Amino acid sequence: MKGKFVTFEGCEGVGKSRQIKLLCEYMDKNGISYYITREPGGSEISEQIRNVILDGKNSAMTDECEALLYAAARAQLLTEVIEPRLSSGELVFCDRYIDSSLAYQGYARGLGEEFVSAINSFAIKNFTPDCTVFLKLSPEAAFKRKGGVDTSDRVELSGMDFHNRVYEGYLRLAEKHADRFCVIDASGTKEETHQKIVAALKERGII
Ligand code: TYD
Repeated sequence: MKGKFVTFEGCEGVGKSRQIKLLCEYMDKNGISYYITREPGGSEISEQIRNVILDGKNSAMTDECEALLYAAARAQLLTEVIEPRLSSGELVFCDRYIDSSLAYQGYARGLGEEFVSAINSFAIKNFTPDCTVFLKLSPEAAFKRKGGVDTSDRVELSGMDFHNRVYEGYLRLAEKHADRFCVIDASGTKEETHQKIVAALKERGII
């Protein structure tokens, strides 16, 4: 893998999409090239899988089915989009990746890290991020700032206990993979958080 691979993680409503947008604007302004994609989705087939996973009508979906669909969408995205770009030396940003599965399916849904790691190691081969930017903000603080829950989104409807477990899962992952996790305190203003992300990526020689 010649390029650099950076993933972005966080609980619902922490401002991840906003921060990724600000970072992309920064990159454009400074003439630094990159490729941005997202999970679940990022390729035609993976976007179709995304629609199935996030559809509020699919409330009968089992946890196992959900975990396998996320891994399937990831396998397609990796082979079709991420791997060729990294091989040709590009900088790739991905909005969520394997740590989302470990936190949401492994910890919060209770499937366990071992099972989720196993299906995902098959999906992502050895493509581990060089850096995982984790926006740290508790679900209570995030939902308060966001002004409530999106009732058309099956995942957001899962309840506060679920989101607290996701948060707990992320904290454990950040501790376990301290070498690649870059923990950013997201409780300040958007501009403060943005500056912290830029500084962290510079410090690691990514940008
Ligand atoms: P999205 O609308 O993209 O949310 P966000 O802006 O918070 O990233 O929806 C993605 C949802 O899918 C989000 O609730 C997290 C969840 N998810 C998992 O549970 N496991 C995964 O592996 C991934 C990639 C996402």
